Amino acid sequence: MPASAPIIDIAPPHILVVDDEKDIIELLSTAIERAGMTCSTATSARDALDIISRIPVDVVVTDIHMPEMSGIELGRRIKACSNANVIVMTGHVKDFTYEEIVAKGASDFLKKPVRLKEFIARLKRVLGERGTLASRNRALTDLKHNLEKYRLAMDGFVQAMSRAVEIRDPYTAGHQRRVAKLAAAIAEKIGLSPDRIHGLRLAGAIHDIGKIGVPAEILCKPGKLNELEYGIIQLHPKVGYNILKDIAFPWPVAEIVLQHHERLDGSGYPQGLRGEAILKETRILSVADVFETIATHRPYRPARGLDKAMEELETNSGILYDPEAVSACQELFSDNRFSLD
Ligand SMILES: [Fe+2]
Repeated sequence: MPASAPIIDIAPPHILVVDDEKDIIELLSTAIERAGMTCSTATSARDALDIISRIPVDVVVTDIHMPEMSGIELGRRIKACSNANVIVMTGHVKDFTYEEIVAKGASDFLKKPVRLKEFIARLKRVLGERGTLASRNRALTDLKHNLEKYRLAMDGFVQAMSRAVEIRDPYTAGHQRRVAKLAAAIAEKIGLSPDRIHGLRLAGAIHDIGKIGVPAEILCKPGKLNELEYGIIQLHPKVGYNILKDIAFPWPVAEIVLQHHERLDGSGYPQGLRGEAILKETRILSVADVFETIATHRPYRPARGLDKAMEELETNSGILYDPEAVSACQELFSDNRFSLD
């Protein structure tokens, strides 16, 4: 059986003509239908509003002088409740200027008696502009939809990388997720923009990705590490950076990961950066990382609890850790409303 051609159903534009003079309505509606469009008619503003509320109308063509409501007021009401364009027409051209009428929201202005060829030409111009606008809006909606899809894919990819690290290193399973959550909450308290917070949350979720390069027996070693083992662990920020540096994130994710063991006084690693040479996002992440690490269980020691974690931050606030981030972290836990898990 031959494949049937797809049916494309494009409804012709629908025009509403409003005039208290029946002859004018007759004349214009006939011209509209001859031009391939469909048409409704109304002899009062009230009837016109009723039609607009029931069926989709592309353009309303209305007289200005009507007994119960002027065409200008009708146009204002139509604009408030639908996306139809409005063309007004009047025989009293001296009472209005084109600029006044357009300023009140009309798309065009016709003088009576209406010349039918001019009327149809103006109607088609308004419909053309309307079509351009509609296709622009459609393109914008598609673009937003696609951006959202890419954002979700990127977030999913980062979460997958995060899980890959934690499968190898069960003792820190959940660590990155908790650090990301705390860092985002601190950043929100400080007033970072939602966009920067999103980047920080992603960086937090994979900040220890470089541990993929550390042998499992070192990662899971229950006792103290020797100097060589500690040296290998210290390579993980740089390994993480190398894994991430070529991904074109719209945030400095690789740099945040590279710097997450830097400390304000320059005593951190791998670069020994000081103060504001360390990204604000990283300074926030470090506070969250240290807090979570002390508060929870590690292979070489049991959890030391929230109080010990806070004590470490307070003791070294302004020395190792960003004081603003430390204060925000204190506030978060002071009213017991924040939970790491
Ligand atoms: Fe780390």
